[in-house]
Amino acid sequence: MRVITVDPLEPDPAVLAEAAAVLTAGGLVAFPTETVYGLGALALDARAVGRIFEAKGRPGDDPVIVHVRPEWDLAAVFANVTPGMRQLARRHWPGPLTIVAPKSESVPDIVTSGRQTVAVRAPSHPVAVLLLDLVGQPLAAPSANRFSYVSPTTAAHVAVDLGDLVDVIVDGGPTPIGIESTIVSVDDGALTILRRGSVEVLGAGVDDSAPADSAPGRLETHYSPAAPTRMLLPGEPVAGDIPTGVVIGFDDSPPPPDGWRLVSLGSRGDLDGVARRLYAVLRDVDTAGPALIAVELTGRPGLGAAIDDRLRRAAGGQRLN
Ligand code: TXA
Ligand code: MG
Repeated sequence: MRVITVDPLEPDPAVLAEAAAVLTAGGLVAFPTETVYGLGALALDARAVGRIFEAKGRPGDDPVIVHVRPEWDLAAVFANVTPGMRQLARRHWPGPLTIVAPKSESVPDIVTSGRQTVAVRAPSHPVAVLLLDLVGQPLAAPSANRFSYVSPTTAAHVAVDLGDLVDVIVDGGPTPIGIESTIVSVDDGALTILRRGSVEVLGAGVDDSAPADSAPGRLETHYSPAAPTRMLLPGEPVAGDIPTGVVIGFDDSPPPPDGWRLVSLGSRGDLDGVARRLYAVLRDVDTAGPALIAVELTGRPGLGAAIDDRLRRAAGGQRLN
């Protein structure tokens, strides 16, 4: 595996050209997006996409997201681009919104796990943008972690998880948003939120009642640390009889009991910062091998709800107390 380091704001095309060439030849390249690092391969090349599933240890029934540039002809990926889809794309692309809609015939079945719909987004991260421009065709890219583990927000996270299973890692520093894109499915004009993220899709006729990450293929253990993980409600203290563990909470969390340690994600009022730090903190705490991790929910709407979805899922929905 080769690591190519680039400036996240002004990546050098001559440096990224090597990564683009590896992709064009059917290889695997991990790269930063504004949300998390993605594990990329040519989306229209079934063999290249197959390598993504192998490297991640991802089951074949969990479809991957296709990355495009907003100005490309979307008929290459979608069967039909409706006015509603155009409006979503115009408002939120490039950016962390993934649109699920009926797929075009050129998208291989392995990308969609045999579904008739495909998930597509146009990332805004300058490195992802330049890589797409250099390759000139859609890139399939799920989060660049081993299946069901915490998503990567640095190149080092990718290297730890995937090592030589990936050909190139493009290191563009830590990802600015830190949690995965919002996923919305478009069905005859009806919008359903499948995964919450930093983009809020609002309006009449938007179904946001779905539970955390109701996208297909997700498991109870998604985003999970290796250590047993349980959740605390906002402001809920650790009950007296558990001898040791780590609370991942906030600056204003109740002080933990003796034998416990509090690791703060920052202020509950700075949800952008909390989202940005979330996965790195989960990974760091987990790497130290604690007996137990307790994650405290933000209890906040909007981005807070998206963060809480991740925390609930990291805990498999189980309360500590
Ligand atoms: O921010 C992101 O979305 C990151 C970056 C790399 O773009 N990608 C990401 O991909 O989070 P991944 O594979 O870790 O999550 C993709 C989610 C999965 O839960 C999958 O089930 C869902 O998208 N998905 C993919 N295709 C779908 C489809 N046709 N219908 C419904 N859900 C789909
Ligand atoms: Mg993922």
